[in-house]
Amino acid sequence: MLERNIAIKNYINKFFVKENKHILHARENSQHLGLPNIQVPAQVGKLISLLVRIKAPKRILEIGTLGAYSTLWIAESVASDAKIICLEIDPHHASVAREHIQVAGYASQIEIREGNAQQLLNQMQNNQEAPFDLIFIDADKENYPAYLDAAILLSASGTLILSDNLIPKGDDIDPNTDSPGARGIYQFNKKLAEDPRLESILSTTIVGEKGRIDALGITLVK
Ligand code: SAH
Ligand code: DHB
Ligand code: MG
Repeated sequence: MLERNIAIKNYINKFFVKENKHILHARENSQHLGLPNIQVPAQVGKLISLLVRIKAPKRILEIGTLGAYSTLWIAESVASDAKIICLEIDPHHASVAREHIQVAGYASQIEIREGNAQQLLNQMQNNQEAPFDLIFIDADKENYPAYLDAAILLSASGTLILSDNLIPKGDDIDPNTDSPGARGIYQFNKKLAEDPRLESILSTTIVGEKGRIDALGITLVK
């Protein structure tokens, strides 16, 4: 079964996914510098990039940036007057991300705010920052429910919220699991499904060498 998943993933990648040189550099150099190998899979990067192209957002928020791999998939598809704000808690990740953004030529369009996403999101609400057109959630899984609440407050009607890793690792689908990260995700999914302000689907994805099934959440704020 998993071998079939890997074959499907390779087939999709071969025909539909091409990392540009900056995206490829961000992935390879992040690995070289010892960052964890947990960026979105290339085909999820392409899916996000295509959704960005369809949405044509002017203000974009990314929660959890790592080495800017997903950021550069987003940047590839935005207009030159669009602005991307990235939240990242790890100073080393943030500095590697800044470097990748710089060499890709997006330094004036992409701002990295270093710190705890919850605090930075609170600041944005207190400062009454303009709503975002697209928000990508991909940081610590325990706090996904809080990130969704904040994302909704920083949205307007028509905002697209994308969320990575909505199927937790493990053999079973178990909302009562002991893992705090997985519990956060199940709680997040319940809210995505039930909040009357949102219309959502989880779109399954195939991840890594093992062909594990995960999902990208696609949510429209009504
Ligand atoms: N979006 C990236 C992957 C992000 S991995 C990509 O696909 O390329 C998750 C990132 O979230 C890590 O870099 C981690 O340091 C960051 N993170 C974890 N907890 C955080 C928090 N509380 N606030 C902000 N960032 C956080
Ligand atoms: C992992 C994967 C992710 O996409 C992420 O955002 C965080 C962690 C992981 O495989 O551990
Ligand atoms: Mg992720």
